[in-house]
Amino acid sequence: MVATRAMGLCLIVVALLINAAAAATSYSNHTVGGDAGWFFNSTTNMTSADYKAWAANQTFNLGDYLMVISVPLTIEGTQYYFSDADDGEQCLHGMAFEIKVNHGLGLPPSLNQPPPPPYVPPPEPADQAQTPPITVVTSPRSGGMRTSANFCWLLLVLVLVSFLA
Ligand SMILES: *[C@@H]1O[C@H](CO)[C@@H](O)[C@H](O)[C@H]1NC(C)=O
Ligand SMILES: *[C@@H]1O[C@H](CO)[C@@H](O)[C@H](O)[C@H]1NC(C)=O
Ligand SMILES: *[C@@H]1O[C@H](CO)[C@@H](O)[C@H](O)[C@H]1NC(C)=O
Ligand SMILES: *[C@@H]1O[C@H](CO)[C@@H](O)[C@H](O)[C@H]1NC(C)=O
Repeated sequence: MVATRAMGLCLIVVALLINAAAAATSYSNHTVGGDAGWFFNSTTNMTSADYKAWAANQTFNLGDYLMVISVPLTIEGTQYYFSDADDGEQCLHGMAFEIKVNHGLGLPPSLNQPPPPPYVPPPEPADQAQTPPITVVTSPRSGGMRTSANFCWLLLVLVLVSFLA
């Protein structure tokens, strides 16, 4: 009886896995923050959406786009997106999220040209609260540092390093 129930559970888990693997039948555009978008209100220090929750609820694949910034996902694996406006102040207040990019269908021919840019330079004016810059960092180092001040500092340092390199 117990064994039967356990087997049933296994079948469900396998079905879910197959479902997830089969899900990538096309490329998607992910609007960062959903309807709420990617905004920071510097009066309240609030983001317009919970970006970590938003990112956790999406499946990202190679060749997908992050909209608002229209950034194509050309690198597989874990990546970090954050705002470096106001000297990292916005990052500290939640303008940051982490995504894991799966292989999916692989890169479409239109994006399959080497080498993919790992860094998106922010636009010049740092003052526009409604169109803050977004910066991406790819790094294998992720253990235990997320959602904290350390996380933002790590990202800023990594950007600096890749900028100087
Ligand atoms: C996703 O966005 C890209 C770049 O803006 C565009 O070329 C493409 O047609 C969009 N794809 C979908 C499915 O909306
Ligand atoms: C920021 O939040 C304040 C207080 O809720 C609001 O009055 C103001 O309109 C907001 N600013 C923007 C640019 O949305
Ligand atoms: C927002 O952050 C700034 C800079 O850290 C601070 O001076 C200000 O008091 C904060 N405002 C609120 C409403 O928390
Ligand atoms: C996660 O995505 C599903 C399907 O798009 C949606 O129904 C659900 O409300 C989302 N949950 C959160 C926390 O955004």
